[in-house]
Amino acid sequence: MNMALDKAASLPVAGEDAQEEKRHLVARLLSHLAHEIRNPLSALDVHVQLLEEDLMTGDTGLRQRAADRFQIIRAEIRRLENVVTRFLQLAGPSVLEVLPQSLNGLVNQTCDLLEADAQERGIDLRMELAPDLPPVEGDSILLTQALINLVINALQASSANGHVWVRTRKIGTDQVAAEITDDGQGIQPEDQLKIFEPYYTTKPGGNGLGLWITQQVVRAHGGTLRIDSEPGRGSSFILTLPVQHPVTA
Ligand SMILES: Nc1ncnc2c1ncn2[C@@H]1O[C@H](COP(=O)(O)OP(=O)(O)O)[C@@H](O)[C@H]1O
Ligand SMILES: [Mg+2]
Repeated sequence: MNMALDKAASLPVAGEDAQEEKRHLVARLLSHLAHEIRNPLSALDVHVQLLEEDLMTGDTGLRQRAADRFQIIRAEIRRLENVVTRFLQLAGPSVLEVLPQSLNGLVNQTCDLLEADAQERGIDLRMELAPDLPPVEGDSILLTQALINLVINALQASSANGHVWVRTRKIGTDQVAAEITDDGQGIQPEDQLKIFEPYYTTKPGGNGLGLWITQQVVRAHGGTLRIDSEPGRGSSFILTLPVQHPVTA
């Protein structure tokens, strides 16, 4: 089933023309960026393969360690390629690939991917998943990307010995939520709108696109993204999605 991606554009916002223009500009930039990323990615893929072949002549211990690492590198290259492909589709007059999804499944996948990163930073990444959540309808790659963006931000906002919680729950009968909470630096009230703007970043080396993309993805799925933050104590990002409509005969 297909779902138009332009739902977000019809929201009544102040200065709608300017917003619309900015959206088109960003869509063009994203498409350009995606192409720019794709070329080095294929080069990486080839060179990783050559390196793997070179290393396979080494001693057994080294071979085993290298094989594990190569598997991770390969999987991550594949994931990046998928993300790029999906964004190229997003930049055009495109559609979502919508299938029934388990929000808990997507959260599990996200935390699996980021567990090593959390450990390296000395952060305790915890899941608290509500049992028996009804399925949502969505594009798994885009929804996972949205969750990854939120969890990475939470990890980046936390200091060593910090905590990040990813919780899921049901809201009423027709919505489910994923809530990503950190006990990091928090966000000043006057910055809480700015952080969703494309290119707004306070990080050296940040691109400021994570939350903007996440919001676009969530809106395209008919969901919402809300923030609840207290400076100095931490932040929660609450992502809601409508549950899958029952099939009517
Ligand atoms: N969990 C969080 N805690 C504190 N600040 C955050 C958090 N998530 C996002 N931010 C703020 O929002 C800004 C924009 O985030 P994002 O769009 O993901 O871009 P980037 O991570 O590249 O900076 C960040 O630079 C940071 O200032
Ligand atoms: Mg980010």
